[in-house]
Amino acid sequence: MRQLIAGNWKMNGLTAEAEALAEAIREGVSNAQTPPAADLLLCPPFTAIATVARVLAGSGIAWGAQDCHMSDHGAHTGDVAPGMLRDLGASHVILGHSERRHHHNELDETVREKCVAAMRAGLIPIVCVGESEEQRAAGQEQDVVGWQIKGSLPDGFAGIVAYEPVWAIGTGRSATEEDVAAMHGFVRAELIRQLGEDAGAAIPVLYGGSVNPDNAGAILSLPEVGGALVGGASLKAHDFLSIIHHAETA
Ligand code: 13P
Repeated sequence: MRQLIAGNWKMNGLTAEAEALAEAIREGVSNAQTPPAADLLLCPPFTAIATVARVLAGSGIAWGAQDCHMSDHGAHTGDVAPGMLRDLGASHVILGHSERRHHHNELDETVREKCVAAMRAGLIPIVCVGESEEQRAAGQEQDVVGWQIKGSLPDGFAGIVAYEPVWAIGTGRSATEEDVAAMHGFVRAELIRQLGEDAGAAIPVLYGGSVNPDNAGAILSLPEVGGALVGGASLKAHDFLSIIHHAETA
């Protein structure tokens, strides 16, 4: 399975900045001596998706969004339907990111409903799971992540899971290789237990949380790591391109 290196730009980038960043990444990829060994995805804020789509069209780099609503249309002021994202050529949507779970009180059930709507619209959901610092300190990381998988993934889930320990997000404190290996092994076992052997084995599991050019090589070479969901380092073309290169050599 090819790895996926995905950039989550979060709430960063006016359209001119998004355009310049997407152009720099497209150029860096096309000027590299070898084509990328990984699949590539950029997830800008909603307001920059159309701009980034125009830059990336035909480049082989996919684009996506960071959230969507669970309805196809209707009276939902401020929300964006999955079909609207498909309309912009988006292929993926990040769902249940810890920043949405914590700041918007998104529950597993909400994430599951969004997942159903995203798949119905033809989007590939990237469902984020991960324990908080307190939960890890209490030895509850596997319980928490197991419940999030059970609650957030609908029957027939055909998407991607991202393991993002909350304490590693934006802190510069990535999980250790041992922690990543242990949790990815656990996530794989849970996916197989909950979805069945074939479906559970087919789901890529990304790691996210302070991935940078220095730690990407080690993280991406661990078993059961299907790629990376990159926040801060995806806002710098040079860093993102260097992370991509590690996927190539992993
Ligand atoms: P950082 O890479 O900035 O830690 O963010 C990770 C993340 O939240 C990706 O979704």
